[in-house]
Amino acid sequence: MKRKVTKAVFPVAGLGTRFLPATKSVPKEIMTLVDRPLIQYAIDEARAAGITEFIFVTSRGKSALEDYFDNAPELEAELRRKNKTELMDTLKTTYMDSGAIAYIRQHRPMGLGHAVWCARRLIGNEPFAVILPDDVIAADKPCLAQMVEAYEETGGCMVAAMRVPDEMTSSYGILDADSGTVDRKVQVRGMVEKPASGEAPSDLAVIGRYILTPDVMNTLDSAKAGAGGEVQLTDAIAEEIVNGRLVHGFRFEGERFDCGSKAGFLQATVSFALARPELNEEFSRFLSDIVPVARAAE
Ligand code: UTP
Repeated sequence: MKRKVTKAVFPVAGLGTRFLPATKSVPKEIMTLVDRPLIQYAIDEARAAGITEFIFVTSRGKSALEDYFDNAPELEAELRRKNKTELMDTLKTTYMDSGAIAYIRQHRPMGLGHAVWCARRLIGNEPFAVILPDDVIAADKPCLAQMVEAYEETGGCMVAAMRVPDEMTSSYGILDADSGTVDRKVQVRGMVEKPASGEAPSDLAVIGRYILTPDVMNTLDSAKAGAGGEVQLTDAIAEEIVNGRLVHGFRFEGERFDCGSKAGFLQATVSFALARPELNEEFSRFLSDIVPVARAAE
């Protein structure tokens, strides 16, 4: 019987150099889309998928993240005194049950695969999810919940996948799989990390949501640095296939924003702001005024 996925790993130990100087003192995951930090979107998505144990792989300079999930009794008392019940509810979405959240240090940024491996003792012998908070996905049904449902049918490992144009393959792990099928679950024959344009085995790129079996941790135990001198998670998942285990790509329904890049972060900000009823009118008026001016200046 396949086990339920109740644990999620959030690797947040990267340096976030693309957002310097902001990330010198503010963790990338605390940067906000409208009024919620990236990490809140990730936690909400995990909760919606039935996750009850949250494991953060952090590094030096990320204490703001730990504080974010702590209770805030003074703030709460003040909001209660002022009868601000709606804000109280918002505040409570940041609270975690005692014992539900754990922080582990990755002492040096040795890659995503290494960051996930740091959580091995807390994962034990269970399947687990991995969420990269800088991939934010807008979807009617949250992406990880879609994947958990699909995983209940397939078992094995599952990676979120989306189509990318050929000139973008060198920025992603790419699946060797038939991308043309109607089924959202696609069996994977192999994976290549960041292939050059024209050399990719398909147009299906892996993005930051995974459901992994504990075998992957064993593979990571002996993993050597791959592309870019880092321990790649994709390489460890590819090894699963070599060892005859099942790996599926899952073409999720929804729009993914790469909030690890400036352009992606700005696109997400605009899109999430427009989706807010209280901001939509004023913000879309502003955009329709400013866009023609920007175009004319080109
Ligand atoms: P990125 O490739 O976006 O790297 O990592 P980064 O350091 O966060 O950002 P840049 O490229 O310097 O701007 C993808 C995810 O993997 C985590 C990051 O925190 C991010 O969530 N990661 C990466 C680690 O936890 N440890 C690592 O050694 C590398």
